[in-house]
Amino acid sequence: MDARDLLRSVRMAGSANGWRATRAAWRRQRTDARDLPRRGPERARVPGTALGAEPMPGGGVVRFARSRLQVRVAVGGAVFCGWDGAAPEPSYALAGAAPEADGRAVLEPDKDGWRVVSERVTVLVSRHGAVEFRTPGGLLLRRELPPRWWDATGPAGAPGARWVQRAQTPADARVFGLGGRAAGPRLPEGTYRLWNTDPGGSFRPGDDPLYITMPVQFVVADAGCHLVFHDSTWDGQVTLRDGEEGAGSGHDRPGGSEVRMEGGPLRYWVIPGNPARVLGTWTALTGRPALPPRWALGHHHSRWGFDTQSEVRRVAAAYREHRLPLSVIHLDIDHFDGHRIFTADPERFPDLPGLSRELAEQGVRLVSIVDPAVKAEPGLDLYESGRAGGMFVRDGRGREVRGVVWPGDSVFPDFTDPAVRSWWGGLYRERLDRGFAGFWHDMNEPVSFASFGEPTLPRSARHSLEGRGGDHREAHNVYALGMARAGWDGLRRLRPEQRPFLFSRSGWAGMQRYGGTWSGDVATAWEGLRASLALVLGLGLCGVPYSGPDVGGFTGTPEPELYLRWFQLGSYLPLFRTHSAIDGGRREPWQFGPEVLGHAREALETRMRLLPYLETLAHIARGTGAPYVRPLWWTAPADRALRECGDAFLLGDALLVAPVLEPGAVSKTVRLPRGAWYDTATGRLHRGPGQVLLDAPLGRVPVLARAGSVLPVAGADGSVELEVWPPLEGRSGSGVVFGGDPEGWGAPVMERFTTRWADGEVVVEREGGGEVGYAVRVRGSAS
Ligand code: GLC
Repeated sequence: MDARDLLRSVRMAGSANGWRATRAAWRRQRTDARDLPRRGPERARVPGTALGAEPMPGGGVVRFARSRLQVRVAVGGAVFCGWDGAAPEPSYALAGAAPEADGRAVLEPDKDGWRVVSERVTVLVSRHGAVEFRTPGGLLLRRELPPRWWDATGPAGAPGARWVQRAQTPADARVFGLGGRAAGPRLPEGTYRLWNTDPGGSFRPGDDPLYITMPVQFVVADAGCHLVFHDSTWDGQVTLRDGEEGAGSGHDRPGGSEVRMEGGPLRYWVIPGNPARVLGTWTALTGRPALPPRWALGHHHSRWGFDTQSEVRRVAAAYREHRLPLSVIHLDIDHFDGHRIFTADPERFPDLPGLSRELAEQGVRLVSIVDPAVKAEPGLDLYESGRAGGMFVRDGRGREVRGVVWPGDSVFPDFTDPAVRSWWGGLYRERLDRGFAGFWHDMNEPVSFASFGEPTLPRSARHSLEGRGGDHREAHNVYALGMARAGWDGLRRLRPEQRPFLFSRSGWAGMQRYGGTWSGDVATAWEGLRASLALVLGLGLCGVPYSGPDVGGFTGTPEPELYLRWFQLGSYLPLFRTHSAIDGGRREPWQFGPEVLGHAREALETRMRLLPYLETLAHIARGTGAPYVRPLWWTAPADRALRECGDAFLLGDALLVAPVLEPGAVSKTVRLPRGAWYDTATGRLHRGPGQVLLDAPLGRVPVLARAGSVLPVAGADGSVELEVWPPLEGRSGSGVVFGGDPEGWGAPVMERFTTRWADGEVVVEREGGGEVGYAVRVRGSAS
């Protein structure tokens, strides 16, 4: 037990589940001591020297003395590298079959080994197994050094090899991603673990890992950008080291990344290109992001601790009375009967269908929390049916693994088993019948409370892993991904005419196929506010564009200023949800005094005005993988200063949002990317690159609009109009508008508009001709 464990056990001792958590922690330890295959003697191995090579479509195989490497450039430009015979499939990350090889790329001898030349990247394999990725112009993007394995030499049945793969990047390279990291968006030097973890209580920027870890690095350098994905679900870690430039001496120290895995295949994908292309290719490989229904882009209010359904009704009414638009209310675990999932408390929530109908009339949807843990209670239908079907995770001796979650002693569905996913998906019928429109997956790292050790299942717990069989070391990181798939597929079967709305606390590469995520239990503090933005940006660069924080922070009570600044930030993020812990204060905007209420209303009104733009961004994310919320370097990756900038972001192509993340601020220095930008508050034009100081009194978030943008907004009567920010004289601009089916599967409608100056006036035209068809509002002082 270390100090943190001790603290945790003292804290838990008084709680109802405290003694269970202690018992479960001992049980977990005992189970692993008995069942976890021991690492016996191991022998280190490197590839050795090359013996020869055979070309294959897209590349070929290079044979080394003690391994072999397959290099395959796929159509679309992603490069697959697999050592020791590792193939792209099976993979939890991939959305379907691996993309076809690019037949034009072939392996050919080179002066120091072999090379594969393709349209976007040249891959060089050295005689000792180093692999370089260069731009077509010859600039180095990444050099993977020969890997090293530790093979088990003990009896058969011992676990597979551990491995380490080191890489060098250009000295100026900066790394983003690795899932949801509070320390980002630009990841500082250090070691990041790959093991989905509930930090317990709440988290701050120093806490790592968190709920979503992914072996996905988005690397930005002068030479170009690339994404690298090491496709192993096992426990591991990534260590990043910044490079250093030798001030013209020619002696740069390259940047370093070291990926260390406890098992799984040594295979990785490298995707080069500009940011938009990288995410396009990445989400073609792992799946395009699910398109949320239109209502999910409005404001959500949530609370752990709604006592009764009348209280829910009262909160919705108070939103109306205060003239605060509200789109969704979330019900947390307290509406369940004794915290048992897929139930409702008959006394406190006796008529959920009635409540949901009533709310629907006011345009408010209900979302339900869904936890994976099933109360292990003899006689409970869900438990009995799951047990009869063999749905729950078992230990090495075939006994159900027991853990502890909100309802007490619990068991855990094995979401790596297709039959379990199908069973689980059917359970959402009960939720739909009660009137829920969307789903909030939680505690799916998975969590099992423990007074010491890791708060999850034993590492030796057995999983199906799609029938291949394996243990929790391999299944842990994809547990939530499997749960999301189960929910998504189930909802598609049960309610085929509607797009599912799902978001999940934990997940892995590819989770965007099934929906989004949120920050989890972010600490109520200014640093928690900053971490909220870091998470959203980092996840977007890993292909997960729909997310947002608990506005106001999860714990305690924010001071009014912090609450308002959080609310303002949240109003520009895809998932805009107020939420708090049961022992935290309330998060309704009227709890913080009239001044905050007034400014929160303005933020909500701005949100409502931007809804058509957010819907357009949702469609763009769906179609191309480009996140709604993008780092400032998105269109200018060579601007080094922007790589370090984590306190502002681009919302689509048109807007630059600079939220206030510091207490007491009345102004904010904003770094502008290249181009001309209007301050939307004053209409003044500013030129980038460079910095500007903008007013940021309590009621205002600095927002700039790119000159030449055309964006759809909701006019006063709710109908869509085009907001136009004039291009510079002699230049032109453009914008797209996506619309269509708000909740179903109908094909989206895209319209494109251009803008230019003609005879001293700004004109807007529909591309392809015809009426513009929308009211046009020209903004900015250049008009
Ligand atoms: C977890 C979730 C939090 C939720 C709570 C109770 O801590 O992260 O959002 O309110 O569980 O369900």
